[in-house]
Amino acid sequence: MVNMKENAGKYAVSHVRDGMVVGLGTGSTAYYFIKELGQQIANGDLQAIRAVATSKESFQLGLDFGIDMVRIDDVEKVDLLVDGADEATLDFNGIKGGGGALLYEKILSLYSDRVIWIVSQDKIKDKLGAFPIAVEVIKFGAWKLFKTFHQAGMNPSFRKAGKDKLYCTDADNYIIDLHLGPTDDIQRLAFELKNMVGVVDHGLFLNIADMIIVGTSDGNIDEH
Ligand code: 5RP
Repeated sequence: MVNMKENAGKYAVSHVRDGMVVGLGTGSTAYYFIKELGQQIANGDLQAIRAVATSKESFQLGLDFGIDMVRIDDVEKVDLLVDGADEATLDFNGIKGGGGALLYEKILSLYSDRVIWIVSQDKIKDKLGAFPIAVEVIKFGAWKLFKTFHQAGMNPSFRKAGKDKLYCTDADNYIIDLHLGPTDDIQRLAFELKNMVGVVDHGLFLNIADMIIVGTSDGNIDEH
């Protein structure tokens, strides 16, 4: 069976050049990118690569695969960030945060010269929103925000880690997922979410990616 995530993740390494500072995304597609990057460094096909990570998980993966890991504040900028996405439209908008790493992913996106998303074909949509939109909120007053979302008809749910525990991000915040369904005015939604007190950031990544690499069901790669 074709592993579309693996194909997209491995292929993305062809965009890495010697000497780059590379941003490592988070999630199951980014895993294949990190693994392949580590292998090409070990083989000597890529040299003088340093990497920064969008999560503690990816930082550890980078170390496990023998990549020289550094911290975002130790580098001037990132040359290329390769990250997954939960949904993407071909006009370079997307939803991220299914893996809970949206805040660090957005920060790294901001300091990256080039951002490539790696996705399987099923994630390409005409309209965003079928996948829940993650909203990272500080713990103080989180239930008040939840109530506000509920009253606005945004179908919120707290992200859980197990049965009784709320999920905490790497920055020690909660995530409230909004189950909206395909949504028309995502620009306005992104603006409104960002302006709510207590919201740190949200999973709408608008006009952030420069390229989308799609692993297709027939085993090919499409670059957009
Ligand atoms: C993590 C993310 C991931 O990139 C997104 O959830 C895609 O994950 P996967 O590659 O496992 O499908 O945004 O916060």
